[in-house]
Amino acid sequence: MSEIKTYPVNDYFSERALLNEDQYKAMYQASIDDPEAFWAEHGKRIDWMKPYSKIKDVSYAHDDVHIKWFYDGTLNPTVSCLDRHLEIKGDQTAIIWEGDDPTQDAKVTYRELYHKVCRLANALKARGIKKGDVVTIYMPMVVEAAVAMLACARIGAIHSVIFGGFSPESIAGRVEDCQSNCIITADEGVRGGKTIPLKNNVDEALSKPGAATVKTVVVYERTKGDIEWTEGRDVWYHEITEAASDDCPAEEMSAEDPLFILYTSGSTGKPKGVMHTCGGYLVYASMTHEYIFDYQEGDIYWCTADVGWITGHSYIVYGPLANGAVTLMFEGVPNYPDVSRCWQVVDKHQVNVFYTAPTAIRALMQAGDEPVKSTSRKSLRLLGTVGEPINPEAWEWYYHVVGEEHCTIVDTWWQTETGGVLITPLPGATPVKPGSATRPFFGVQPAIVDNEGNLLDGVCEGNLVMKDSWPGQMRTVYGDHQRFIETYFSTYKGYYFSGDGARRDEDNYYWITGRVDDVLNVSGHRMGTAEVESALVAHPATSEAAVVGYPHDIKGQGIYAYVTLKKGHEETDELIQELKDFVRSEIGGIAVPDIIQWAPAVPKTRSGKIMRRILRKIACNELENMGDTSTLADPSVVDKLIENRAHQ
Ligand code: WT7
Repeated sequence: MSEIKTYPVNDYFSERALLNEDQYKAMYQASIDDPEAFWAEHGKRIDWMKPYSKIKDVSYAHDDVHIKWFYDGTLNPTVSCLDRHLEIKGDQTAIIWEGDDPTQDAKVTYRELYHKVCRLANALKARGIKKGDVVTIYMPMVVEAAVAMLACARIGAIHSVIFGGFSPESIAGRVEDCQSNCIITADEGVRGGKTIPLKNNVDEALSKPGAATVKTVVVYERTKGDIEWTEGRDVWYHEITEAASDDCPAEEMSAEDPLFILYTSGSTGKPKGVMHTCGGYLVYASMTHEYIFDYQEGDIYWCTADVGWITGHSYIVYGPLANGAVTLMFEGVPNYPDVSRCWQVVDKHQVNVFYTAPTAIRALMQAGDEPVKSTSRKSLRLLGTVGEPINPEAWEWYYHVVGEEHCTIVDTWWQTETGGVLITPLPGATPVKPGSATRPFFGVQPAIVDNEGNLLDGVCEGNLVMKDSWPGQMRTVYGDHQRFIETYFSTYKGYYFSGDGARRDEDNYYWITGRVDDVLNVSGHRMGTAEVESALVAHPATSEAAVVGYPHDIKGQGIYAYVTLKKGHEETDELIQELKDFVRSEIGGIAVPDIIQWAPAVPKTRSGKIMRRILRKIACNELENMGDTSTLADPSVVDKLIENRAHQ
């Protein structure tokens, strides 16, 4: 391995950071020595209605997995995000909205946000939506998306946000899974100068039998585009909120009542509803946001994620708002109208903290330095990355070109399941190494196990697990606790298994090596190979499909699909396109295979298991050493696939 540089804490953060290295170490040790005392103290960072006296009740034991934090306390998360800021910060900006069109932007103060949330909360109540109901949110990146989440939380309804890039089929599946009775959407979304037919997608989803539970569709008017209207079911956002009172009492929730569900892909089956609860999640989201981004009064903070992902939940909405921060919401994409857009937005709003994904960094890097250098970026102090391993080359470009060597970089490792960041540098406390997520956050106990589940010591590489819980951990798979146990607590008994591989170096730094299960990470988005496979075989021409990942310059991983056709169908380029379109309509754009290779058959063991190891090698063009193929039912299949590979 080539020489790895270490970048010490810079002057700016040495001086101003909330914590230095010694303080981090002492605080980390305290969080491990006595977690109850540590979290009893830090749980107070959010507002409680009835204070907690019980801190933690956790078991990872396979026959009795349960996770509870602050569990006799009551609260409403929106009180910490809104009400408590009104007195002092009522007139301070809470959200800066930057439109897709660079001439459009807006600022919303904490008081305005509070009233918007209350109005929608009251309007939802008036439509009969109540505590425990699941409200689906399928919105573009407008302020009202955050308002919708908080309005649900205000009345104790559970929100389930679905990313605007998912198809009607995907919406229907999620609605059915959680029996959602209301959808909040917009007429259309706007991204990169194009419109996205959100309401049409919802209509199509609701025409499917599984989605019959939905009785109310709230439509926010974003573009005034042409849409269909179902009388009695559809209501305009502006009409129902205009009529509503702008004060709404906050529903008292138990710390362990659900706050939201977020669907995410796994290695098997349909996406699962990751469930987070009110108390621990908010404590953890706000605490990580403050320390990792060294958030202090007056900072302008921008996370480029979409609220459809966990990053948007924790680090656009809940964490920053609980901290009374200024959080920027961007409707557009990094390359529209041109590839300078991010840095123009940084200059326009004087952004201090910028948090994005390696895939965006790599795409911007490909466009060269000029579009960056044509902007000032003087306001930037801290750059964050999340979603996938960052290659040192992209890290260095981010550091030297974007940050001009005066910004620190935090590479934050976490997952939808973890609610907040688990492994990360802190800007004033951690010398950083390009490509390493470095050290655990407070209360987090990472460990590495081998494939048999033995704990490894010192410098090692293996599977990344957590020894104990932290307040932001997911509590269950919505409606399927058994699946929760099987997915996360069965592979390595007594530990939470992340699904990632990791290496630990001589400084006890963690290096995430990527997924070790059948989950792909495409542009920082998770996609299960099984999901793409089942979409492909749902097409009438397909008899079989096998999907693997392969290295992709921009996306990190690309999707490589092997498809076997039924008799009577021809292997044509038109059919490849048709299959890609089909996957788009079944799941969404992020699931579309980059490459489809025709396969006369896919290699299987005699027991019928697809040999993905071999398919991965062929996809990655590593054709020399195929390893042991003797267990294959028909080894000649491999030669045929290698032969076909040449045509890709
Ligand atoms: C998977 C989780 C939670 C943020 C967005 C993705 C990968 C995430 C890093 C990082 C290396 C990373 C892991 C993880 N990942 N951050 N800093 N370095 N890999 O959330 O969709 O739940 O995906 O993203 O493989 O398991 P997600």
